[in-house]
Amino acid sequence: MSGDDEGKAKVTPWEVRGAVDYDELVTRFGTSRLEGPVKDRLIKLAGEDHWMLRRGIFYSHRDLGTILDRQAKGLPWALYTGRGPSGHTHLGHIMPWIFNRWLQERFKVKMYFQLTDDEKFLFMPDLTLEDTNRFARENALDFIALGFKPGDTRIVIDTEYARTMYRLALRAAKRITFSTARAVFGFTNENNIGQIWFTSMQSAPAFLPSFLEGKEVPTLIPAAIDQDAHFRVARDVAPGLGYPKPALLHCKLLPSLLGGDKMSASDPQSSIYTTDPPKVVRKKLMNSFTGGRVSVEEQRRLGADPSICPVFWYQHYLFETDDAKLAEIERRCRSGELLCGEHKLQVLEQVQKWLAAHQAARERARDHVEDYIMKE
Ligand code: TYM
Repeated sequence: MSGDDEGKAKVTPWEVRGAVDYDELVTRFGTSRLEGPVKDRLIKLAGEDHWMLRRGIFYSHRDLGTILDRQAKGLPWALYTGRGPSGHTHLGHIMPWIFNRWLQERFKVKMYFQLTDDEKFLFMPDLTLEDTNRFARENALDFIALGFKPGDTRIVIDTEYARTMYRLALRAAKRITFSTARAVFGFTNENNIGQIWFTSMQSAPAFLPSFLEGKEVPTLIPAAIDQDAHFRVARDVAPGLGYPKPALLHCKLLPSLLGGDKMSASDPQSSIYTTDPPKVVRKKLMNSFTGGRVSVEEQRRLGADPSICPVFWYQHYLFETDDAKLAEIERRCRSGELLCGEHKLQVLEQVQKWLAAHQAARERARDHVEDYIMKE
């Protein structure tokens, strides 16, 4: 299952192409919809709801129930998520991290954050190991800026925590055949052998808490659905290694400002980066695609279509957490009352306000980043 079945959107950890049908991915990847009793139980145990749950942004899972059972019994578990440091962080990456921070805060569990400088070196032809290692530290600042605390947050930079990671990854790699890697990721003869090995490195932190603590500490991995393939493999090898299978929570992808699919690191105009200065943010948002009509007259008469509008999606996913306010914005878009220019300025103000606070927190994190990074 290489994520690019005939005629369907391609969704792999390295490429998202085509119109993504999230319901179809649940079937194709064999995950479970996050709904009904398991979702209610998550909210109940967390003690509050979250807009990413209410709006179905986190919409799919694997084995969440086993983590919730442990939580209810007071047994340990840990969070694990990550970033491939190929450049600066954009708002799409931030989205699942905000949810991770909420989970950590509600459940008071440890968070393991992997920075795969090895992965991005192997997959990005123009990046050196020095580049990806430098971006790893830059990306770590964004993670820390969201409020993760040093006592319960461990950052793993693959090339720096290599002694431990290598031993865990080796044990996983011994159980993953080339034929599995090729079927899951769609590798061809042109892929370098580091790329083929890499999934064993992304599996390793799923087992790290159990390895370090010498007892069963399963992980819950909240991430966008594009990363699922790695963890299908990790779940398959877990029993053979004597570790619990990791559980997953999947979110949808924050769309591109240019319309269409996932934000793309290869086109900086498609996304807002946490390091973008206000002028650049303004330009990107004002140039954004919208669900508007060709003329003001037509829009007043026919209304706009928020369901295809990245400006509206930014509020839906991140910047308007009040459901009543969001519904009113949607109504005004559809009725033609709210024009795209005015709407863009409204979202711009929300984004700039969030970014100013985040950028300040990000700079403060520079003095503490080393406290989070795991050392041998
Ligand atoms: P990376 O750097 O591509 O993405 C980091 C995290 O952001 C999610 N993501 C998005 N979420 C919403 N909207 C988007 N447009 C968007 N683009 C990316 C990804 O799903 C991911 O959660 N190989 C990984 C790094 C990694 C990792 C992990 C990720 C290592 N271990 C464990 C998740 C969980 C990578 O390159 O992610």
